[in-house]
Amino acid sequence: MKIGIIGGGSWGTTLAQALTDNNNEVLIRDINADFVKKINETHLHPFFDKPIPESIKATTDLDEIANYSDYLVLCVPTKFMRGVLKELYSATKGQKTLINVSKGIEPDTSYLVSQIVEQEMKEKVKDYVVLSGPSHAEELIDRKFTCLVSASKNSEAAKKVQLIFSNDKYIRVYTSDDVVGVETGGAIKNAIAVVSGIATGLGLGENARAALITRGIRETIKVVEILGGKTETAYGLSGIGDLIVTASSMNSRNFQAGLRIGKGEDYGHVLETSAQTVEGVRTIEAAHTIAKKYNTELPLIDLAYEVLFEGREIKEALSSLLNRDLKQEI
Ligand SMILES: NC(=O)c1ccc[n+]([C@@H]2O[C@H](COP(=O)([O-])OP(=O)(O)OC[C@H]3O[C@@H](n4cnc5c(N)ncnc54)[C@H](O)[C@@H]3O)[C@@H](O)[C@H]2O)c1
Repeated sequence: MKIGIIGGGSWGTTLAQALTDNNNEVLIRDINADFVKKINETHLHPFFDKPIPESIKATTDLDEIANYSDYLVLCVPTKFMRGVLKELYSATKGQKTLINVSKGIEPDTSYLVSQIVEQEMKEKVKDYVVLSGPSHAEELIDRKFTCLVSASKNSEAAKKVQLIFSNDKYIRVYTSDDVVGVETGGAIKNAIAVVSGIATGLGLGENARAALITRGIRETIKVVEILGGKTETAYGLSGIGDLIVTASSMNSRNFQAGLRIGKGEDYGHVLETSAQTVEGVRTIEAAHTIAKKYNTELPLIDLAYEVLFEGREIKEALSSLLNRDLKQEI
């Protein structure tokens, strides 16, 4: 079948290859004309410079992608999502099944992508599915084994996306009905990955990282529950699975951004000079806003917020974490 992908960066172009391997026809839309040219003319991944199937086509034209297929994959950074959906609403004829693969919370509003889609695409959404889980583009581009979860309120739509993306060689997709839980886990893990990177940059070791990841899952669960998702989803691929792969890997640009911040670089400079999207820093801001709104403490995220956005000294912040009241683990 035909599938359109909006956003042909690291992840979008990697998914294009997987979808092509599964015998689909794929068109990518990206606003970066150099990426589009590179995909069409050299058949190389725009970030990784690795060969991708020649049948993958790319365009800068929104109208072309809007009406290319009934299935559109959303793969732009969350901060651009609302703008993309507004344009898409005007350009699409008929209803679409939207498959969101981006992982973040909208910075100014603290909305999940499912909520932005509801607000901006309204009656033009046939079904909404989120596809998430532990997945570095750097590995999937080499067709390394990856498990994902496809979540939708419509179980048939979740199953359809499961079938579209699964194959018997390197991708296995599970289904879920917990859109909020899956989206929240995918977003919060980027925030925790930044925290984990900061700790590593400060010279803390693997003991500390394991503790941060474990406490990070507690914070993920809190946000999942506040937003109305299921606790058990946080223990699945989109929660703990994605946290493990992101919060301890040099392949994670969120971990790497944290590492640079922990070594003393200014976070604004880190964001400006990262070639790829770093969702985690903005997610720290959004999750902190959610915690305040619902009167909940997220010790790691709140502390990272104070360091990044309020100028709190990192080492002092860390020692305040250790000086919190001693308590039961769970
Ligand atoms: N890279 C990964 O391993 C990975 C894995 C899973 C999920 N994700 C998520 O996917 C999303 C995208 O990440 P990425 O790594 O591909 O980022 P990226 O920075 O590599 O690519 C983003 C792409 O979006 C394009 N873009 C920006 N605005 C656009 C618009 N209005 N229309 C079309 N294209 C537009 C940019 O030109 C760029 O090519 C993020 O939310 C990320 O968390 C990434």
